[in-house]
Amino acid sequence: MDPDRRTTEAPLFGDPPNPIDPPSGCRFHTRCKFAAPVCSATAPVLAEIGPAHRVACLMACRTRGIRRLGRGRMSGTSAPTPIVDVENLTVDFHGGPKPLRAVAGVDLTLRPGEVLALLGESGSGKSVTLRALMRLLPERRAVIGGNVTVDGHDVRALSRRDLTAYRGRTIAMIFQEPGLALDPVYRVGDQITEAVIRHEGISRSAARDRALKLFERVRIPSAAKRLDNYAHEMSGGMRQRAMIALALACRPRCCSPTSRPPRSTPPCRSRCCCCCANCSASSALR
Ligand SMILES: Nc1ncnc2c1ncn2[C@@H]1O[C@H](COP(=O)(O)OP(=O)(O)OP(=O)(O)O)[C@@H](O)[C@H]1O
Ligand code: SF4
Ligand SMILES: [Mg+2]
Repeated sequence: MDPDRRTTEAPLFGDPPNPIDPPSGCRFHTRCKFAAPVCSATAPVLAEIGPAHRVACLMACRTRGIRRLGRGRMSGTSAPTPIVDVENLTVDFHGGPKPLRAVAGVDLTLRPGEVLALLGESGSGKSVTLRALMRLLPERRAVIGGNVTVDGHDVRALSRRDLTAYRGRTIAMIFQEPGLALDPVYRVGDQITEAVIRHEGISRSAARDRALKLFERVRIPSAAKRLDNYAHEMSGGMRQRAMIALALACRPRCCSPTSRPPRSTPPCRSRCCCCCANCSASSALR
């Protein structure tokens, strides 16, 4: 919570708040060891309590002095235009007995060259946030609110046709489960080659060459041979790397891993990177 006073991590025990019927006030008050009576009555707002340090916590704001943020930005920067600009993102799932609010008012900004880590306990909405950026949520059941702009695209307004180009060229996702990204009935190298041809219209041999270079870059051993593997012929670690190669194949402006990449993965060279990890994993990104 407070980096000046923190000596060890302050884990929250117990289950995450029920998103269908969350606790009143601060969602954490039933489990937070710093909770005061006011925490069950008042929901904290995001506030800046130090340089590049924002919190949504009533106690932190009391002890350090509040400056409420009008918009989710750090002050005093003349930074380049953001690639990802999200304001008050909400995601509600309908279809159950009551709507489920999976994401409640997320603001985030990501500029070229930046890496952003989304940390939170299991079920706190990290993957849903990134899926909203990709428009990969079930259209009928998931209602996205707020403003989501990625590389100048108003993501909520993209047509189906625009979405195809948007996913892959503008933003790419590295899924938590390789099975979601890799097709079991096509050779992995062919999947990467096809993606590059479809998005960039370059020749098959140039696309295959790019796939090979990517396999080498993510350090898949015997890269040329492995291009002809099906996903089930690879080890778990290789599948994860192949997935990263697939995500980077079309040189997206922004890349979103939905879990911490394997330690040995080389740095991602897309223009910016938005990652998420469980806070129980002691490090964010190494
Ligand atoms: N398609 C869906 N329909 C209904 N609820 C969903 C759907 N997808 C996710 N949820 C719910 O949204 C909430 C946030 O889920 P999300 O997958 O974003 O969690 P997470 O922070 O990525 O967790 P983890 O660290 O375990 O991956 C959870 O309560 C989950 O059950
Ligand atoms: S407002 Fe801060 S101190 Fe109060 S319950 Fe929430 S996290 Fe804990
Ligand atoms: Mg997740």
